[in-house]
Amino acid sequence: MDVDDVRGDLAEVLLTEQQVREGIVRLARRIEADYDGDRPLLVGVLKGAVMVMADLARELRVHVDMDWMAVSSYGAGTRSSGVVRILKDLDTDLTGRHVLIVEDIVDSGLTLSWLLANLESRGAASVRVCALLRKPDAARIVVPVSYLGFDIPNEFVVGYGLDYAERYRNLKAVAVLAPHVYQ
Ligand code: PRP
Repeated sequence: MDVDDVRGDLAEVLLTEQQVREGIVRLARRIEADYDGDRPLLVGVLKGAVMVMADLARELRVHVDMDWMAVSSYGAGTRSSGVVRILKDLDTDLTGRHVLIVEDIVDSGLTLSWLLANLESRGAASVRVCALLRKPDAARIVVPVSYLGFDIPNEFVVGYGLDYAERYRNLKAVAVLAPHVYQ
């Protein structure tokens, strides 16, 4: 869906469809250059990373493998607890692999911090992170993000994989949700 389809629900467009696309292209060019022959395993973190993964993988001009994890990081509350549960694990053996975790957003950093340690413990040759978005002001733990699209303000954002109550994931832009939608 386009911004005009849900205009009344949005307070502000942070990144247009075009800006998101340009961000993905920039990430892809850097990743191709860095891995240079080391076929990376892209690990998408469901569900938010589906859009980034789909567009990034297609933009890459090199061979990649793709796998998926689903983790639950929020427990009962609305904020990250740091307590992460694996809902769906990888199918791939990571021994000796160059792993690139693909995320839509780094918010508190707690999910990613746990995930990095978990994947590193499986014998990967390297584990790096690619995230389209990061909220620096929300960080509770600083996680190294090797490939970052955009830093954004600490607001309730939706679109391009990010949801509110499972809606807006299919919005092409990234936007701040209007408070009347969730209040
Ligand atoms: C989001 C996002 C990250 C995580 C980041 O996922 O996709 O995985 O939160 O938050 P953190 O940095 O505070 O840990 P969410 O748990 O909302 O699930 P979803 O991807 O299925 O929407």
